[in-house]
Amino acid sequence: MDNERKVPEHIAIIMDGNGRWAKKRMQPRMFGHKAGMKALHETVQAASDMGIGYMSVYAFSTENWKRSADEVGGLMNIAVEYFFKEIEELNQKNVRMLVLGDRSGLPEKVQEAADNAEKSTAANTGLTLNIMLNYGGRDEIIRAFREMAEEEIPADQIDEAAVSAHLYTAGQPDPDIIVRTSGEERISNFMLWQNSYSEFFFVDTLWPDFGEKDLRRIVEEYWKRDRRYGNAK
Ligand code: FPP
Repeated sequence: MDNERKVPEHIAIIMDGNGRWAKKRMQPRMFGHKAGMKALHETVQAASDMGIGYMSVYAFSTENWKRSADEVGGLMNIAVEYFFKEIEELNQKNVRMLVLGDRSGLPEKVQEAADNAEKSTAANTGLTLNIMLNYGGRDEIIRAFREMAEEEIPADQIDEAAVSAHLYTAGQPDPDIIVRTSGEERISNFMLWQNSYSEFFFVDTLWPDFGEKDLRRIVEEYWKRDRRYGNAK
């Protein structure tokens, strides 16, 4: 097996189940999202310790605006809190944070906090943490094609490398692993271009309960899988 015992370069996570986690405790949905922020903290530390190069987490999709104004506002506040609170830890762990998605659609205070977190961690050379915020996979692909049209790239030069270079994740390896928590088995518009050869892991754990143990278990399971990229055995 070619990927045996190789630390995956890039793990992407659809952090699902915060609402159900809160409901089980008869608490409001925001209680679940706050617990989700703690789980994210632990998972980032673990990924950094494991020597993973890139971690992408789906924090808010281009479709999540359909949720109640209260929940959307609460999630934006959590994003601001996370961007400010985590900087010190991220610097200690040598983690670089990027906020990927349609920035212009975010409230100004979120944009500012995102800019600040990116600048404050820009020199770090360990794990790159992509926080996908106001992110949609189709939206990302449309933007890439619009940019290429604006740059007047000739049709015969539009190939896989050109598209990849115009995505938010330009220059990064595609995810080896995509995890979705909470038992749902859908991709929900997440990294549609980049996930072509990813290994998928659907786990029942609700996101607030996810942590280092789960991440390590998934990597061990990944080592047992045989990635062929379309090749015969
Ligand atoms: C999906 O669970 C989760 C989200 C839409 C938000 C994810 C946010 C966090 C993990 C907090 C950290 C956030 C930032 C911005 C750093 P759900 O609410 O759809 O759960 P449900 O399906 O059980 O209702």
